[in-house]
Amino acid sequence: TLISAALIAPDGGKLSDLIVPDPQKPFKNEQALNFPKIKLSKIDLEWVHVLSEGWASPLNGFMRESEFLQTLHFNSLRLNDGDVVNMSVPIVLAIDDEQKERIGQSGSVALVDGHHHIIAILKDIEIYKHNKEERIARTWGTTALGLPYVEEAIRSSGNWLIGGDLEVLETIKYHDGLDQYRLSPAQLREEFARRNADAVFAFQLRNPVHNGHALLMTDTRRRLLEMGYKNPVLLLHPLGGFTKADDVPLNWRMKQHEKVLEDGVLDPETTVVSIFPSPMLYAGPTEVQWHAKARINAGANFYIVGRDPAGMSHPTEKRDLYDADHGKKVLSMAPGLERLNILPFKVAAYDKTQNKMAFFDPSRPQDFIFISGTKMRTLAKNKESPPDGFMCPGGWEVLVEYYDSLVPA
Ligand code: ADX
Repeated sequence: TLISAALIAPDGGKLSDLIVPDPQKPFKNEQALNFPKIKLSKIDLEWVHVLSEGWASPLNGFMRESEFLQTLHFNSLRLNDGDVVNMSVPIVLAIDDEQKERIGQSGSVALVDGHHHIIAILKDIEIYKHNKEERIARTWGTTALGLPYVEEAIRSSGNWLIGGDLEVLETIKYHDGLDQYRLSPAQLREEFARRNADAVFAFQLRNPVHNGHALLMTDTRRRLLEMGYKNPVLLLHPLGGFTKADDVPLNWRMKQHEKVLEDGVLDPETTVVSIFPSPMLYAGPTEVQWHAKARINAGANFYIVGRDPAGMSHPTEKRDLYDADHGKKVLSMAPGLERLNILPFKVAAYDKTQNKMAFFDPSRPQDFIFISGTKMRTLAKNKESPPDGFMCPGGWEVLVEYYDSLVPA
């Protein structure tokens, strides 16, 4: 339609849709029964979900070696027409020696879930070495022990990677009461068109929304209106895949986000809340490129980035893993993201002189308190309240309830 043509085009010009059309499913399923089977982990399945709906467009399956190498070395992929799209994190499937042996000369494999249910076919496969140390070092910039995704999904994975074209037979559902929030890039584009959005600004998050986050979003809206946009729509886009153990689980975050809209911190009229199915890598400036790129595919032409995106504390040293300003600097220069308008923000902190979250003013540091995730957790666990104006009361209640629900150690 005319309206959706107004949205930013997906990378490569067209959204990858790797889900097999219904009429072809019985035949493909039949075929798949004869292929060697590879069992997917929970995180593998999340990547199948990501690939199937085109978040990683124009990628149309798990990476082959040439894509893997371009990702690791250039954070981007060169397409046949010479165009460059951003691709900063490897989307790969690991197999071990025994599985490689079993695949033998077969050109295709069937990917199955934990219940041996066939989820997808991987076609025209290519098997290549999985140099884990190199993958980890290049993606995270360190091989320190204790990186959550590395320990969960890489360290003990197989020594081979298998790439190929993906044909997905089963749309990925989680049956956790949240599937209706898992809009695909195509569905999000429809929603933005339905709302007549003339600009879409995306906010990636994996934490509860505090008023500092809200400040970034409301300030963006104000700036876009000033620039002359008539109907900017916010995509509030919490990450729904794997997160580290001490992050707030998705179902609680969704409850919290709901309260933030109910309490009027964000305007439901101009906000679309949806779940981004990717797992979280905590790879800082490398990962934030992936977060931004995926949102282009979902129709966002503006991307908010603040302090230390996709960052965490160093797993073994007393410091942050990444420079808190590098995420926004890298994003503003990243290959293949030239089409995306990056909206970089200074750090927001609690201003004691105004009793609210405000942009940090380095000329009067003594007036500000930084309320970290750890501090928030400690407060909520001890049933103490954060300072007034840090988070809406309804949202805070959800967090207290969550920490209450944890069995005391
Ligand atoms: S992230 O892993 O998804 O980046 P988080 O949910 O904490 O983590 O952050 C979401 C977005 O808000 C990121 O763009 C991040 O840079 C930004 N952000 C988080 N806290 C602050 C803050 N205090 N000041 C400015 N920006 C922030």
